[in-house]
Amino acid sequence: MSIFKLSSFFLLSLFLLSDADAAIYKGQNIFIKKCIVCHKNGENFVAKHTKAEWEKLLRQDGKPLGALHLKTKKAKKSWKYFKSQKYRKKSKHLREFLVEYAKDSGKIPLF
Ligand code: HEC
Repeated sequence: MSIFKLSSFFLLSLFLLSDADAAIYKGQNIFIKKCIVCHKNGENFVAKHTKAEWEKLLRQDGKPLGALHLKTKKAKKSWKYFKSQKYRKKSKHLREFLVEYAKDSGKIPLF
């Protein structure tokens, strides 16, 4: 296959990604950028909780997850992020990702 064909195939598959896939992909990027620093071993970490648990932690624009970090000094480096508008706005993507690969999903994310 020529480079040209390959790249148009790639573009086409990007185009065909559904909104849900896009959200999961964005969520994974957030996870990589914001969570792995402290929660090493990403795929096992995601599989630590069930779908229902992740849903719960990320309801109300991620409030419970934020609160959990804001109350421990050990997570101090994450406070700025968890307090930010950006976190609240994008928490839906993070939730899509975490729920997609939860303990009871039977799926493992590729990093
Ligand atoms: C600065 C470090 C830091 C960052 C960044 C951070 N965390 Fe945490 N997180 C902690 C600490 C410390 C705790 C308290 C529990 C502990 O001692 O492990 C915690 C607890 C948790 C818990 C509950 C306990 C558990 O292990 O299930 C979850 C879930 C969690 N974090 C998810 C996340 C997610 C998702 C992100 C990214 C949006 C994130 N954390 C970013 C430090 C961090």
